[in-house]
Amino acid sequence: MHHFAYDQERLCAESVSVEVLVSQHGTPLYAYSKSTLEDHYRKLDQALAGVDHRILFAMKANSNLAVLKTLADLGAGFDIVSGGELFRAIKAGGAPSSCTFAGVGKTVEEIRYALEQGVLAFNVESEAELDAIDRVACGMGVKAPVALRVNPNVDAGTHSKITTGTYENKFGIAYEQIEAIYQRASGLHGIRLAGLQTHIGSQITTVAPFQRAIEKLAPLAAKLKDRFGISFFDIGGGLGIVYDPALESGGEGWWEGDDKPLTPATYAKTLAPIVSGLGLKILVEPGRFICGNAGILVARVLYVKKTGSKRFVIVDAAMNDLIRPAFYESYHQIVPVRRDLSRPLLPTDVVGPICESGDVFCKDRPLPEFQEGDLVAFLSAGAYGFAMSSNYNSRPRAAELLVSGDQAKVVRQRETWDDLIRGESL
Ligand code: LLP
Repeated sequence: MHHFAYDQERLCAESVSVEVLVSQHGTPLYAYSKSTLEDHYRKLDQALAGVDHRILFAMKANSNLAVLKTLADLGAGFDIVSGGELFRAIKAGGAPSSCTFAGVGKTVEEIRYALEQGVLAFNVESEAELDAIDRVACGMGVKAPVALRVNPNVDAGTHSKITTGTYENKFGIAYEQIEAIYQRASGLHGIRLAGLQTHIGSQITTVAPFQRAIEKLAPLAAKLKDRFGISFFDIGGGLGIVYDPALESGGEGWWEGDDKPLTPATYAKTLAPIVSGLGLKILVEPGRFICGNAGILVARVLYVKKTGSKRFVIVDAAMNDLIRPAFYESYHQIVPVRRDLSRPLLPTDVVGPICESGDVFCKDRPLPEFQEGDLVAFLSAGAYGFAMSSNYNSRPRAAELLVSGDQAKVVRQRETWDDLIRGESL
């Protein structure tokens, strides 16, 4: 699953002790495992081997240059959602011609930059955006490659904040309208119809919603190929990962029915028969599946505080470092960096120092009796962890390390107080 495991009592990232990483780089600290990134990329790639496909890593999940370079070296393209992400892809050595540009609010400047760089396609989310892209492309005397994002109105059965494929969501163009818009787009001088795209949500842990959406859209893709000569069908990202291993063994489940998380094998086995006969290149845009379990956030216990019936463990990481628990009530496994099996398990709230009651990583969770100075690791923090971090409460952002075997490299320096005020003036 991933390369974070105990060697005797010490948690290691690949073959480096996390204690050693902390002694050199401090806390809070993100550590990524290169082998885990590579394994997950290859697992999905191999599962899809029978389909003419390309993996475009959704870099919103983790846009660190070293992570991007690791994936670009394996052959990944990128799913980007801003000019800044295209800039990062290029800085990491990625080819713009392997990037699809998504998002409901592309600016004229971003559209121009993407056309200059030569992206693979724009994933277009509205008719108004289509017209804007057409205008910019005509002004530059080029044709913009375009895939319309179709909203299939299929519920992904995931958290409401990460559901994208229903008509309640701002994303894509309604299934019923899509053909008419392709028809109109085919007459626009600045537009070349290149593909069809969809994405129904994130952290999807059963194959059924994918199946429903792709079964609904495959005939549309075939028709668009015949009528407009599109060459790819981009089926989006969204493959879920295991955050809580207790659930993996059939505990209280947040996925319907199945007692196992969705594997790339099941995903590919179910979807391949639907798409492989289309004669279209299949693009996939996984983010979390590639990097979610490939990263941990390490923090130090500052204080232990008992009030009323509660035991609070206050750590030096906070919601500005990892916002997922506060924002989505997400579960992240919390483990000691040095295991001591003689310590009792106590109901614990692990909290950060930020002045908000929501700055909580877990509530009343049975955890080993943590003490001041202990190190703890939040697992599965490689996706939407650092990428969603901020400077709230004027907290410098954490350092990021990439670990490969027994080597650890700083791939983003810890921010300083000077970084906090860069660009500000009195
Ligand atoms: N493609 C599109 C168009 C997307 O909007 C997304 C994610 C992806 C691909 C990648 O989805 P993934 O394979 O990572 O599930 N911050 C939230 C997740 C937001 C997902 C946004 N879109 C979280 O921490 O759970």
